[in-house]
Amino acid sequence: MRKKILITGSAGFIGFHLSNSLSDKYTVVGIDNYLNETKSEITKIRSKKLSKKKNFTFLKIDISKKNKLEKVFKKYKFDIVINLAAIPGVRNSFFKPDIYFKNNIEGFYNIYSLSIKCKVKLFIYGSSSSVYGNSNKEETNNPISFYAATKKCNEIIAHSFIENTKMKVVGLRFFTVYGPFGRPDMAIFKFAKLIEKNKPIHIFNYGNHTRDFSYIDDTIHSIVLIIKNQRKLKNYQLLDIGKGKNDKLFDLINIYKKKFRKKFRIKKISKQIGDVETTKANIKPLKSLINFYPKTSLDKGIGKFFEWFVEYYKK
Ligand SMILES: NC(=O)c1ccc[n+]([C@@H]2O[C@H](COP(=O)([O-])OP(=O)(O)OC[C@H]3O[C@@H](n4cnc5c(N)ncnc54)[C@H](O)[C@@H]3O)[C@@H](O)[C@H]2O)c1
Repeated sequence: MRKKILITGSAGFIGFHLSNSLSDKYTVVGIDNYLNETKSEITKIRSKKLSKKKNFTFLKIDISKKNKLEKVFKKYKFDIVINLAAIPGVRNSFFKPDIYFKNNIEGFYNIYSLSIKCKVKLFIYGSSSSVYGNSNKEETNNPISFYAATKKCNEIIAHSFIENTKMKVVGLRFFTVYGPFGRPDMAIFKFAKLIEKNKPIHIFNYGNHTRDFSYIDDTIHSIVLIIKNQRKLKNYQLLDIGKGKNDKLFDLINIYKKKFRKKFRIKKISKQIGDVETTKANIKPLKSLINFYPKTSLDKGIGKFFEWFVEYYKK
């Protein structure tokens, strides 16, 4: 019988790609609340594509409402739960911390505790490279944004139950994931839209930020392989999902100069509140577990994103 997987945040960027891929082999139930009703254009496109998948069922539920969730868990008896629903974004977390608390911490706890109660075998959740803050070591106790604190909190909550459950738990620290159907609030998509509209780009920290940019297909392939290698997993594991190599934001600008073949204005501005200066994944644990890690170069990945972007904007 096909295994049953719950994916929360299925209308979001990573959740959409993951639901699309996993529903080829598994029975997938996707949950999303469309960020409290504001269904964006990109969310509509993602949802429409997923609605065509035979083994995918969508349920509009808010993960901060435990009663509704419990009914779903009892009905489907999931083998695997993947929690990706969250409010992302560093800067906003300073201005709207209550929303982050409700969705990222309470919501996470609801999904996690129900997974234990309903004897789910594998629980995977989206953490973030932001837990490293500005530490250049493995230190994660000094988050510099409330968003990062919510992700660190997820990791601590997940760890606290491990002696009380047989469920395997994996936290995935994603590193700046990008690609087709991506998030319009993230630099790669945002810059492309501004260039297209002949508007200036605001580039933070004068372009000196470096990021371990991870192409979406690599991220999804990593998760698929983690599920396949379920037996090899420890009871509790945290994995960086990134290339182990970082690029400057200016490298992205240079790629866009070649792609768009037109001049655009760049306004260099100072570092923003909560911004981490550099991110770089430690790929060793992931590589030794699944014999794979994201490798797509920024140049190649942006090429694929750009092809999609041109197509998407024609419509
Ligand atoms: N994209 C990245 O580069 C990146 C980096 C680090 C961590 N992450 C984490 O990975 C996960 C997925 O990120 P993404 O980029 O796909 O973000 P996204 O915003 O595209 O997707 C998140 C989805 O969760 C949904 N959601 C939020 N609160 C909810 C709730 N209470 N109930 C139901 N649904 C809810 C949203 O409607 C959205 O569709 C998130 O946990 C995010 O924090 C992403």
